[in-house]
Amino acid sequence: MGRRPIVGGNWKCNPAEISKLDGLVANINACDTSGCDVYVCPSPLHVGLVYNKFTNGACVAPQNCNFKGCGAYTGEMAVDQMVDMGMKWCLIGHSERRGEFGLPTPVESSELLATKCKYILEKGMKCIYAIGEPLPIREQGIDAVLAYCVEQLTPFKDILDPETVVLAYEPVWSIGTGVTATPEQAQETHAAIRKWISENVSPKCAEGIRIQYGGSANAKNAPELSACADVDGFLVGGASLKPEFAEIVAAIAQAKKA
Ligand code: PGA
Repeated sequence: MGRRPIVGGNWKCNPAEISKLDGLVANINACDTSGCDVYVCPSPLHVGLVYNKFTNGACVAPQNCNFKGCGAYTGEMAVDQMVDMGMKWCLIGHSERRGEFGLPTPVESSELLATKCKYILEKGMKCIYAIGEPLPIREQGIDAVLAYCVEQLTPFKDILDPETVVLAYEPVWSIGTGVTATPEQAQETHAAIRKWISENVSPKCAEGIRIQYGGSANAKNAPELSACADVDGFLVGGASLKPEFAEIVAAIAQAKKA
């Protein structure tokens, strides 16, 4: 059986005004989810305002979580709270939380993220785990890129499971820059990641696990990227704030139709 495509919309720290939320929710509800899983990552402040507003099966995936549950953890979002609100997914490991864009908070290590992922899975939720290399690594070629991604994947070796974990490969140099990886670059990298999983976890896991591409994905480049055999979906930032998000979902659903 083929891998069902999955597309996520990462609203990051947007929008500035709650008056804009209805429009953004409408963009997600306009997606045809019959051939593609859809999730959306609202900003932490807005999760509680929109989590029950999706009418087409789109899931809410907060952009971060803690790994201790509820209690004296000021400023945190607990997986336990997400479970109670009926959420099924959580995004972790975005490069903007790994220190790539100068967020003035401690950098999250892959080991910490594996701890978060284990907690998410223990509580019965699923996890989207973002990985990807900065430009100086990309400039060294595919072997360096794979080695960088492998470092991010290694703490997850025992918990990678196609049923519960989705990988989002997001080259840092393409995030928010308008510079998209070429289909050749995306395919080569996704295939290399899948091969590593086949050799280091299991062929079955490699075959089943979904790998999204992220980085300036939009309605225009989605059809070409969707045609890549190892691209199973997208994690979309900027374009998830626009009506064209539904076209991205449609493009990959069409490309992966059995
Ligand atoms: P972008 O962001 O689509 O705006 O490049 C992608 C992401 O950061 O997930």
